Amino acid sequence: MIKKIGVLTSGGDAPGMNAAVRAVVRAAISKGMEVYGVRRGYNGLINGDIMKMDERSVTDIIHQGGTVLYTARCLEFKTKEGIEKAKAKCDELGIEGLVVIGGDGSFRGAADLSAMGVLCVGLPGTIDNDISCTDYTIGFDTAMNTAMELVDKLRDTSQSHDRISVVEVMGRGAGHIAVNTGIACGATDIITKEVPYDLDRIAATMLEKKARGKQNFVVIVAEGIGHSQEIAAELEKKTGIEARATILGHVQRGGNPTVRDRVEATRMGYYAVELLEKGIGNRVVGIKDSKIVDYDIQEALSMKKPYEVDLHRIAEEIAF
Ligand code: ADP
Ligand code: F6P
Repeated sequence: MIKKIGVLTSGGDAPGMNAAVRAVVRAAISKGMEVYGVRRGYNGLINGDIMKMDERSVTDIIHQGGTVLYTARCLEFKTKEGIEKAKAKCDELGIEGLVVIGGDGSFRGAADLSAMGVLCVGLPGTIDNDISCTDYTIGFDTAMNTAMELVDKLRDTSQSHDRISVVEVMGRGAGHIAVNTGIACGATDIITKEVPYDLDRIAATMLEKKARGKQNFVVIVAEGIGHSQEIAAELEKKTGIEARATILGHVQRGGNPTVRDRVEATRMGYYAVELLEKGIGNRVVGIKDSKIVDYDIQEALSMKKPYEVDLHRIAEEIAF
């Protein structure tokens, strides 16, 4: 029976991470385990920046964005020495299991630490929804709602000026935020790296739509494409319609988590503790068809996530 576990957040923060931390801490305590919060990702494990948590440590955090444990990228943890230091710290404190809330990079670290004998369970935490073994990642819903609200505001001014508004949303290499936000905002075009695009064709269809009475246009560009300023300038040149580019940026990572993020983070956090309680590690937890599932970390990392091609096609087909 595992008696002491740790929890950390790693990589980019995401709204809902606090709800996951709360679930892990409270589930562990309710199952009679001691639980430690590790600050600033794997750095805290290496430097011993670790605090014992009790039920009150996670009071009033379920509604907060960010992460009370702080987060960081830790280069030292990618080295053998770094992992050995982390393992030694776990041994010193008697930490036998660890819940790692983060993305694929963080799970690679969790696999390395699992191989050293610390049972690690990964929870998918990133606004990008780019983790293959799960339909859903903590933070995705809040980030999309934030992006949608901001695009709604841009639309007001774009409409008043008869302009094209080119909006770049986050997502690192993936277009999941872009396509869903695009649908939700009624964007005329969505540009992601998963679907080939052609600015000449986009400009030509804008002019056709303008001839039929459409006066303003919202184009959502995924971060992976970048160049949103250049795209706006090109579209303005090709159509003669004034265009402005907006990069939404890190504001998409903040804010109070939505119901979905709080609920899914809680379900997955609780499940992670159940795995550790059974002595199971080297797993990533996810959600498939609304059910909680878990996979071997290496298997999870080798999976490929399909892009919402149908959603992308539908969005463009009905945007006239
Ligand atoms: P994410 O977890 O969001 O994908 P990163 O790729 O930045 O974010 O990874 C977060 C942290 O996970 C890194 O700073 C590092 O400490 C650890 N990590 C990333 N890749 C590896 C790896 N290949 N081996 C061990 N640890 C890694
Ligand atoms: O992975 C989450 C994310 O916000 C990506 O969408 C973005 O590419 C990246 O993190 C930005 O990272 P940073 O906070 O280091 O600028």
